[in-house]
Amino acid sequence: MDTELDIFIPAARTAGLYPYLEQAALGRAKILRNRPIVSLDLASLRCLSITMHGSGEHVRTPLVFPLVRTDSFNFAPQCRAVHTLPGPDWLVLGGKGDDLGRLVAQALKARRENGERPVLRVTPYASLTGPLPQEPAEGDTRFTFRKSSENFNQPAWQNSVEKLLALPEERWHEAGISNTADQAFLFDEALTRLAPSTPRLILDLGCGLGQITRTLALRYPQAQVVGLDASAEAIAVAARAFQLPNLRFDAVDFSRPLCFAPGSVDLIASTNALPYAQDQLGSARELFGLLTQDGLLLNHCRAEESHLFWDFPFSLVLPSNTQIFLSDWFLAARESGRNTEISSVPLGMGAFYFRANQARPFSVPLDAMADAHRHDGPGPYAPWLSHVLLAHSKKARQTDEATLPLAQNHLERLSSVLNAVVRAPREIQGAAVVGWICNAKMLGLLPEFLEYLEAVLPGSAPVLKPVFEAGLAKGGEEGGSGYSS
Ligand SMILES: C[S@@+](CC[C@H](N)C(=O)[O-])C[C@H]1O[C@@H](n2cnc3c(N)ncnc32)[C@H](O)[C@@H]1O
Repeated sequence: MDTELDIFIPAARTAGLYPYLEQAALGRAKILRNRPIVSLDLASLRCLSITMHGSGEHVRTPLVFPLVRTDSFNFAPQCRAVHTLPGPDWLVLGGKGDDLGRLVAQALKARRENGERPVLRVTPYASLTGPLPQEPAEGDTRFTFRKSSENFNQPAWQNSVEKLLALPEERWHEAGISNTADQAFLFDEALTRLAPSTPRLILDLGCGLGQITRTLALRYPQAQVVGLDASAEAIAVAARAFQLPNLRFDAVDFSRPLCFAPGSVDLIASTNALPYAQDQLGSARELFGLLTQDGLLLNHCRAEESHLFWDFPFSLVLPSNTQIFLSDWFLAARESGRNTEISSVPLGMGAFYFRANQARPFSVPLDAMADAHRHDGPGPYAPWLSHVLLAHSKKARQTDEATLPLAQNHLERLSSVLNAVVRAPREIQGAAVVGWICNAKMLGLLPEFLEYLEAVLPGSAPVLKPVFEAGLAKGGEEGGSGYSS
């Protein structure tokens, strides 16, 4: 069987890239060189239709080099890496020639192993035009990302369990664990306002060392409070440290069905754990089903949108990271007749989590800003802040969904997250511009990337164009000074 791998490269880079492609094809495929085309219509390209398992998230895209990648945090290894799938056209917007050659060679090798006789067709393009339709089309290659089932905290728990067992709670930080503070205070205001008055059953999901579970047991002595965590080691420490008549801990994986009767749980609390549920929508539906009529779910965790914001343009193609997708939790809450209130929590914010963290012009201002707000409690939602607190209950004040980045179409959602920069404080604007340019430099993006942005994120072009025009041309890390709103 003959199959074609069609790759479109910037015409101005033909001489630089062609030798790498020739090398990739050597002994693997016949190489064909097309005449350059003046204007490449993105709508004519064969695309990947990418979805996230257990989520409504989706994006339709050609295989954009160097943006489509599978090596991000918290993904299950795929049986076939996305670039080895037959079908999608490749579009080059930057990156290093040798990296491109390596991926093309792997893609051709995979086809040969599949009994094909591939042809590599190279077409230089001078410019790009949009739009890039997002509705799945016949002939698309489907690709689903799945969250990993690995518990990334387990090595930390395993390595420190002996030390933790030997130390009192106030000295747990000596075990070298980053999260040893009791963050139950973040729930105080929401509990006072929204929790059922006399809860009988309370769960803390992904309770870790159990400090928050303990604080909930003290706050609600009439309730049975259960801390659940996949790590037997963390549970052993929690069970030893905190002993109260109404408190118990269990080693349980919350990606599997939980053993509680539907409609029996008054309060579910979780901090920095629910993003690990493999099937987000499935878990959200399950948890809302466990709640009593006036039950409350409080979920405090890192927000995907902050990665879309700070890690742009790495975040142009879904997914950039695998935190929760707000849309899944809003949807499941709505289905169960509950309102959702969202707040942002700056705690935990810091350059460390974002791609440009090695660049001092990015990390210094971002860290200074994060330090200044580290002790702020929940406040108004902003997509650049690293953590969210979601409160779901009938009594919660429904946040106006039209003001939030809830689109399941990734590009639409990304566009609204990026556009929020014009409403951001000046320090955020400055740091964002520096971060975006650093990221673009890391990716080695070419000026053709700007045309791609205008085609796929037309609603953000007025915001992004000046940044990337100046940044890519200057080659600097300093970026612009801000936006006027
Ligand atoms: C970042 S820690 C947060 C711990 C605690 N809630 C806190 O805020 O200090 C995430 C916790 O989730 C747990 N976890 C991860 N995946 C899980 C799963 N599938 N089921 C239950 N717990 C899980 C980990 O073992 C870890 O203790």
